Amino acid sequence: MSDIADVSLAYEGVKRIEWADRSMPVLRQIRERFAAERPLDGLRVAACMHVTTETAGLIRTLQAGGASVALAASNPLSTQDDTAAALVQEYGAEVFARAGTDREGYYAHIHEVLETGPDFVLDDGCDLVNTLHTDRTDLLGTVKAGCEQTTTGVIRLHQMALEGALRFPVVAVNDTDTKHMFDNRYGTGQSTLDGIIRATNTLLAGKTVVIAGFGFCGRGLAERARGLGARVVVTEIDPVKALDAALQGFAVQPMAEAAPHGDVFITVTGNRDVVNAGHLAVMKDGAILANSGHFDVEIDVRALSELAVEVHRVRHQADEYVLADGRRLVLLAEGRLVNLAAAEGHPAAVMDMSFADQALTCAWLATAHTTLPPAVHDVPKEIDTEVARLKLASMSVSIDLLTAEQEEYLHSWRLGS
Ligand SMILES: NC(=O)c1ccc[n+]([C@@H]2O[C@H](COP(=O)([O-])OP(=O)(O)OC[C@H]3O[C@@H](n4cnc5c(N)ncnc54)[C@H](O)[C@@H]3O)[C@@H](O)[C@H]2O)c1
Repeated sequence: MSDIADVSLAYEGVKRIEWADRSMPVLRQIRERFAAERPLDGLRVAACMHVTTETAGLIRTLQAGGASVALAASNPLSTQDDTAAALVQEYGAEVFARAGTDREGYYAHIHEVLETGPDFVLDDGCDLVNTLHTDRTDLLGTVKAGCEQTTTGVIRLHQMALEGALRFPVVAVNDTDTKHMFDNRYGTGQSTLDGIIRATNTLLAGKTVVIAGFGFCGRGLAERARGLGARVVVTEIDPVKALDAALQGFAVQPMAEAAPHGDVFITVTGNRDVVNAGHLAVMKDGAILANSGHFDVEIDVRALSELAVEVHRVRHQADEYVLADGRRLVLLAEGRLVNLAAAEGHPAAVMDMSFADQALTCAWLATAHTTLPPAVHDVPKEIDTEVARLKLASMSVSIDLLTAEQEEYLHSWRLGS
């Protein structure tokens, strides 16, 4: 059973999935290994992830390992309907996702994948795990373990564990080096600008781009916006991150000071109300607002609606809010993840590593879950290192190996100057 928009889009979906697969050599290798070794034989996986061509690569890999997979979208706007169709028609997955669904439809789809009675859950933002622990507690006894893909989801899971609410082990795939150092930084950096450019066709050179949050995503974004000729202003609440931004040559200001000067505002903090009514009240005519943090809480869209006298859809994923004094503020993708709603999400070459981490972690969990308490766990270091090694090999990059003497030196405290 599935719920998708249009099964006739499957052919287009297959073509795009195959195109993405060309840039995912590590995941392809793991898929071949899984097909031979079948580490997930007979396991049911329920996933709540962005329905993109790269996710299709992960689903196919889990299937090659012997799992059956049901997939719901992890954002109402990020679903690629052709990918959903291809997954159902050509690759035998159950998919519950339609682009542009409302909140009710979004949660109905999460309930559908849970209905399959999963052994493992793969989450991106913790809505699936949250729904299990609130509405479907009857299924908690049969879920063996889970994986979490993004920073916001890991933060929510830690909170659940702290309050003693988490009932099965979940592995923070987001926290591997091969995920957040590349996906969050290079992936979000490039794809967020891609989304803004596709939605507006704006020229970034010479513009003032205000970036809220200088974490893994924000740093990548700031570097790339500067590369396109923008004057970049960073806003932060963490003194260390702010200092890092300042020493990298970015202007650092509170949002209240940046608000009147910015041409483009991008939030990527994982926090709420980062752009609030007070900031909106002083922005320039024509300012563009975009969010790339996980949830649509970073820009206060309700305050924007209340300030507006008219709202027009001016382009795909671009709404112009006309304020009482005539100023126009342009909100992209309704304040949701702009890189997935207005563009295609991260390039496949980056998702190659994130989803290699996911696939190898699932294979490890197939046996390791029995030894793990209900808590948030790290991915074993060997998986992280193996993914980096495979990625380097796929790029024909070689590195030095430690000599026996170097190995001994690094593990000794006796040798000094
Ligand atoms: N768009 C995507 O495809 C994508 C990809 C990866 C992660 N994410 C999401 O992006 C968000 C950020 O992820 P990250 O890995 O960079 O997290 P991070 O923790 O490394 O960085 C977040 C930064 O925001 C700062 N911050 C918090 N509140 C702030 C505020 N009010 N004003 C200014 N700065 C503030 C924090 O101090 C921190 O430095 C999360 O919601 C994550 O889930 C999105």
